[in-house]
Amino acid sequence: MATEFELNGQPVTVDIENDTPLLWALRDDLDLTGTKYGCGIGMCGACTVLVNGRATRSCITPVAAVSGATITTIEGLHPDGQHPLQKAWIETQTPQCGYCQSGQIMQAAAMLKDFPNPTDEQINNAMGGNLCRCMAYVRIRKAIKMAAK
Ligand code: FES
Repeated sequence: MATEFELNGQPVTVDIENDTPLLWALRDDLDLTGTKYGCGIGMCGACTVLVNGRATRSCITPVAAVSGATITTIEGLHPDGQHPLQKAWIETQTPQCGYCQSGQIMQAAAMLKDFPNPTDEQINNAMGGNLCRCMAYVRIRKAIKMAAK
Protein backbone atom coordinates (compact mmCIF):
# COMPACT_ATOMS: atom_id res chain seq x y z
CA MET A 1 0.00 0.00 0.00
CA ALA A 2 1.16 3.51 -0.70
CA THR A 3 1.89 5.69 2.31
CA GLU A 4 2.32 9.43 1.97
CA PHE A 5 4.06 11.70 4.44
CA GLU A 6 6.28 14.76 4.57
CA LEU A 7 9.95 13.99 4.87
CA ASN A 8 12.45 16.74 5.61
CA GLY A 9 10.10 19.29 4.09
CA GLN A 10 9.21 17.33 0.96
CA PRO A 11 6.12 15.22 0.23
CA VAL A 12 7.03 11.57 -0.35
CA THR A 13 5.17 8.38 -1.18
CA VAL A 14 6.41 4.86 -0.47
CA ASP A 15 4.68 1.84 -1.92
CA ILE A 16 5.55 -0.91 0.55
CA GLU A 17 3.81 -3.19 3.04
CA ASN A 18 1.99 -1.26 5.78
CA ASP A 19 3.88 -3.02 8.56
CA THR A 20 7.34 -2.30 7.15
CA PRO A 21 9.27 -0.38 9.81
CA LEU A 22 9.72 3.29 9.00
CA LEU A 23 13.48 2.75 9.43
CA TRP A 24 13.60 0.53 6.32
CA ALA A 25 11.38 2.87 4.33
CA LEU A 26 13.84 5.66 5.08
CA ARG A 27 16.99 3.66 4.40
CA ASP A 28 15.96 1.29 1.61
CA ASP A 29 13.20 3.13 -0.24
CA LEU A 30 14.15 6.76 0.31
CA ASP A 31 17.96 6.37 0.43
CA LEU A 32 18.38 8.27 3.69
CA THR A 33 20.96 6.17 5.51
CA GLY A 34 21.79 8.60 8.32
CA THR A 35 19.21 6.86 10.50
CA LYS A 36 20.81 3.70 11.87
CA TYR A 37 19.74 0.19 12.74
CA GLY A 38 20.94 -0.87 16.17
CA CYS A 39 18.72 -3.33 18.00
CA GLY A 40 15.53 -3.38 15.94
CA ILE A 41 13.39 -3.69 19.06
CA GLY A 42 13.12 -0.11 20.27
CA MET A 43 15.77 -0.43 22.96
CA CYS A 44 18.85 1.49 21.78
CA GLY A 45 17.72 4.72 20.09
CA ALA A 46 20.03 4.51 17.06
CA CYS A 47 17.00 4.77 14.76
CA THR A 48 15.49 7.88 16.37
CA VAL A 49 13.76 10.36 14.05
CA LEU A 50 11.23 13.11 14.69
CA VAL A 51 7.60 12.34 13.86
CA ASN A 52 5.52 15.47 14.21
CA GLY A 53 8.35 16.86 16.30
CA ARG A 54 8.49 13.96 18.78
CA ALA A 55 11.42 11.58 19.12
CA THR A 56 10.31 8.27 17.64
CA ARG A 57 12.02 4.91 17.22
CA SER A 58 11.68 4.19 13.56
CA CYS A 59 12.59 0.50 13.88
CA ILE A 60 9.32 -0.27 15.68
CA THR A 61 7.11 2.26 13.88
CA PRO A 62 5.11 0.74 11.00
CA VAL A 63 5.31 2.99 7.98
CA ALA A 64 1.50 3.11 7.76
CA ALA A 65 1.45 4.71 11.21
CA VAL A 66 3.14 7.83 9.84
CA SER A 67 0.69 8.41 7.02
CA GLY A 68 0.19 12.17 6.79
CA ALA A 69 2.86 12.87 9.41
CA THR A 70 5.78 15.24 9.25
CA ILE A 71 9.09 13.42 9.63
CA THR A 72 12.53 14.85 10.18
CA THR A 73 15.69 12.75 9.93
CA ILE A 74 19.26 13.75 10.65
CA GLU A 75 19.57 14.74 6.98
CA GLY A 76 16.78 17.29 7.40
CA LEU A 77 17.60 18.69 10.81
CA HIS A 78 19.29 21.69 9.21
CA PRO A 79 19.76 22.43 5.49
CA ASP A 80 23.51 22.90 5.88
CA GLY A 81 24.19 20.53 8.76
CA GLN A 82 24.66 23.57 10.97
CA HIS A 83 22.02 22.96 13.62
CA PRO A 84 23.35 24.12 17.01
CA LEU A 85 23.49 20.49 18.12
CA GLN A 86 25.49 19.46 15.07
CA LYS A 87 27.91 22.35 15.58
CA ALA A 88 28.29 21.49 19.27
CA TRP A 89 28.83 17.81 18.42
CA ILE A 90 31.71 18.80 16.14
CA GLU A 91 33.18 21.34 18.53
CA THR A 92 33.22 18.87 21.42
CA GLN A 93 34.36 16.00 19.14
CA THR A 94 31.57 13.96 20.65
CA PRO A 95 31.45 10.93 18.33
CA GLN A 96 33.86 8.07 18.69
CA CYS A 97 32.66 5.36 16.28
CA GLY A 98 29.71 7.63 15.45
CA TYR A 99 27.15 4.93 14.82
CA CYS A 100 24.59 6.00 17.43
CA GLN A 101 25.13 9.73 17.02
CA SER A 102 22.39 10.61 14.56
CA GLY A 103 19.89 9.03 16.94
CA GLN A 104 21.47 10.86 19.86
CA ILE A 105 21.22 14.19 18.06
CA MET A 106 17.59 13.64 17.04
CA GLN A 107 16.65 12.68 20.59
CA ALA A 108 18.44 15.79 21.86
CA ALA A 109 16.68 17.98 19.27
CA ALA A 110 13.30 16.76 20.51
CA MET A 111 14.30 17.37 24.11
CA LEU A 112 15.47 20.94 23.44
CA LYS A 113 12.03 21.78 22.09
CA ASP A 114 10.58 20.89 25.49
CA PHE A 115 13.51 22.11 27.58
CA PRO A 116 15.48 24.83 25.77
CA ASN A 117 17.82 25.16 28.76
CA PRO A 118 17.82 21.64 30.21
CA THR A 119 19.02 20.64 33.64
CA ASP A 120 21.24 17.60 34.09
CA GLU A 121 18.22 15.67 35.29
CA GLN A 122 16.16 16.65 32.24
CA ILE A 123 19.02 15.62 29.97
CA ASN A 124 19.43 12.30 31.78
CA ASN A 125 15.71 11.60 31.62
CA ALA A 126 15.47 12.42 27.92
CA MET A 127 18.71 10.80 26.79
CA GLY A 128 18.87 7.78 29.10
CA GLY A 129 17.38 5.43 26.54
CA ASN A 130 19.88 6.29 23.80
CA LEU A 131 22.77 3.89 24.15
CA CYS A 132 26.37 4.49 23.10
CA ARG A 133 28.78 1.55 22.98
CA CYS A 134 31.75 3.94 23.00
CA MET A 135 30.50 5.45 26.27
CA ALA A 136 30.55 9.01 24.88
CA TYR A 137 27.89 10.04 27.37
CA VAL A 138 29.93 12.80 29.03
CA ARG A 139 30.67 14.46 25.68
CA ILE A 140 27.06 14.01 24.53
CA ARG A 141 25.82 15.87 27.58
CA LYS A 142 28.50 18.55 27.20
CA ALA A 143 27.47 19.09 23.57
CA ILE A 144 23.80 19.37 24.51
CA LYS A 145 24.63 22.02 27.10
CA MET A 146 26.72 23.89 24.55
CA ALA A 147 23.92 23.80 21.99
CA ALA A 148 21.39 25.01 24.54
CA LYS A 149 23.31 28.21 25.25
FE1 FES B 1 15.53 1.21 16.92
FE2 FES B 1 17.49 0.25 18.46
S1 FES B 1 17.37 0.25 16.27
S2 FES B 1 15.77 1.42 19.06
